[in-house]
Amino acid sequence: MENSPIWLIANWKMNGDAARARAWAFAVNASLAAHDTQVEVVFCPPVTLLAAARGALPANAGLRLGAQNCHAEAKGAFTGEISAAMLKEAGCSHVIIGHSERRAMGESDADVLAKAQAALASGLTPIICVGESRAEYDKKQTNTTLDIQLKGLKKLPSDAYLIAYEPVWAIGTSKTPEMAEISAAHGHIKSVLGSTTPVLYGGSVSGSNIGQILGIAQVSGVLIGGASLEIESMQAMLEAAVNVKK
Ligand code: PGA
Repeated sequence: MENSPIWLIANWKMNGDAARARAWAFAVNASLAAHDTQVEVVFCPPVTLLAAARGALPANAGLRLGAQNCHAEAKGAFTGEISAAMLKEAGCSHVIIGHSERRAMGESDADVLAKAQAALASGLTPIICVGESRAEYDKKQTNTTLDIQLKGLKKLPSDAYLIAYEPVWAIGTSKTPEMAEISAAHGHIKSVLGSTTPVLYGGSVSGSNIGQILGIAQVSGVLIGGASLEIESMQAMLEAAVNVKK
């Protein structure tokens, strides 16, 4: 664990504008530069804001850029879609794939695998989201759901991507599982994919719980939605991550 980074993924979803993306990227990158740290921050704004964020960063910035989705094909007649290579050219190093909000729009496990493979082929690191629904959680079917979602991912090189474990019922609800449940789910994911795959937690991460969550041995970072929108809130979470001893 010692040399592996702690990942903070800021997922803006469909929020923000160019002015805010510029200010956020500049300020969070400056906070990151102030620490000699193992913490890595990936800023995932809407794709239309990537250029603004990139333009606000100095050369050799520590802050990384990511997208929230990509298409599985490299190019072609797919109106409205964006390929992994296009995201790479726009300055991304990472792409979130299989977020539950996209799965709810019909994205399947096969789609997720194809998109992850496309991302890897273009030199992007996929951040692949998995997690159980509230009904599955209540029926104690978390591991069964994870097994189904993880099955195809065994085809990927185990250290080439990140997993974000995001219980669907914890996203945007201010609810989180117990720390022991997060630890157990992460342990299960690593038992399926191998110990070299970093596993992040996502779902109602905030300044008040990030320290505790990152303190869990199996947790290699967090995917943050709502609480990542404000610069001060993000900087406070970055500060908390810097102070976590793994
Ligand atoms: P939240 O979103 O932090 O607002 O719960 C997390 C996510 O959807 O990735």
